[in-house]
Amino acid sequence: MDFNTLAKDDLSLVWHPCMQMKDFEKTPIIPIKKACGVFLFDFNGNSYIDGISSWWVNNLGHSNEKINNAVKAQLDNFAHVMTANFTHRPMVELAKKLVKKCNGALSRVFFADNGSSAIEAALKLSFQYFKNIGQTRELFVAFENSYHGETLGALSVGDVALYKKTYEELLLKTVITPSPKDKSSEESERAANELDKTLARLEGRVCAVIIEPLVQCAGYMRMHSPSFLTKLREICDKHGVHLILDEIAVGFGRTGTFFAHEQAGIRADIMCLSKGITGGYMPLSVTMCSEEIYSAFYDEKVEKAFLHSHSYSGNALACAAANAVMDIFEQEDIIQNLQPKIGKITKRLSELKENAKIKNIRQTGMIAAFEVDTTLERPSLEIFKEGLKHGIFIRPLGNTVYIMPPLTINNDEIDKLFDGIKKSIMKV
Ligand SMILES: Cc1ncc(COP(=O)(O)O)c(C=O)c1O
Repeated sequence: MDFNTLAKDDLSLVWHPCMQMKDFEKTPIIPIKKACGVFLFDFNGNSYIDGISSWWVNNLGHSNEKINNAVKAQLDNFAHVMTANFTHRPMVELAKKLVKKCNGALSRVFFADNGSSAIEAALKLSFQYFKNIGQTRELFVAFENSYHGETLGALSVGDVALYKKTYEELLLKTVITPSPKDKSSEESERAANELDKTLARLEGRVCAVIIEPLVQCAGYMRMHSPSFLTKLREICDKHGVHLILDEIAVGFGRTGTFFAHEQAGIRADIMCLSKGITGGYMPLSVTMCSEEIYSAFYDEKVEKAFLHSHSYSGNALACAAANAVMDIFEQEDIIQNLQPKIGKITKRLSELKENAKIKNIRQTGMIAAFEVDTTLERPSLEIFKEGLKHGIFIRPLGNTVYIMPPLTINNDEIDKLFDGIKKSIMKV
């Protein structure tokens, strides 16, 4: 099938995620033929640097040989068995590796198949924990401008109006508290004080506070300091509520450490992982929790069990990919090798200060972002289209331009990405 037939057939059949389909009248759909390293190749021989790791999942580059081989090897055994009654080596090995990474603070691993489902499981786990110990707590506290996914529970604890507003009438009761607007200690202090007051006001009614540590990614890449997370942990302990860390976007090296929350030296009560867990190969997510939470479900009574399931929980191919990802992080010193790349990004970012249209330049590890001052009605779409002309794939959030490239990107590729960004925003 050639480029044009594929594009035409696609638009007559497929409903694309997070897109206004009418935009395709003026914006091309791009059939991808191959992907390798940081590059995506279309059917017309064009290549694009995947500047956002294909929605933040592809942390180790496309067509990674070790992950390919791990999935192929598992395929020769079996692809999937249900995991209610059965277990298998890839799932148990992965659980072991993840628990080890948490230094034992989180000792139990619940498997699902996408980020939103991991969040749903986290909310239900927290709620049911309190119910199982004889308390009914009906509220969650979440942060202004946060994002935790699109299913109704996950959407309830998010706060990005663009995704949430339409469904408002359907959502769970959530209390939104201010988030720090930047990395300053004043903002950390302000947001921490507000949270403390909110939890004092709602004493005994809140199950958990949920946060994306260090970067609110879909919330226009707003960043806060590790010291805020330290305060957050203290406040949750003071009020006896769970702390749910959503590391779905920021985990697996994205912020310069394996987990973002490591930078604050804190522990979670519940943690959600997905996206980078399989290096962008297969849908997989986990919700991890402390032994204390797990113990409240371990009982003679079946109603006390966590009666939550997904058909593809612990899919063997996905676990095989994830095991390869964990091994690559260890064997190839991915985290240690990030520092020079982070420095290179800082240097290229600082050049953008010369452009008067660019505001609020910021960076956390391998995430860099800024706002473009523009009168364009749809800056995201225009910058995306310009990017393609210059060999880069970026997908701004409104007028927030950001990069989240594969962690395996090299210095030349970082240069190409920034050269492309500079040219793409010139016309805006
Ligand atoms: C922080 C965060 N949590 C949860 C999700 C939802 O993950 P999924 O899209 O796999 O449902 C996302 C997706 O972007 C995310 O960034």
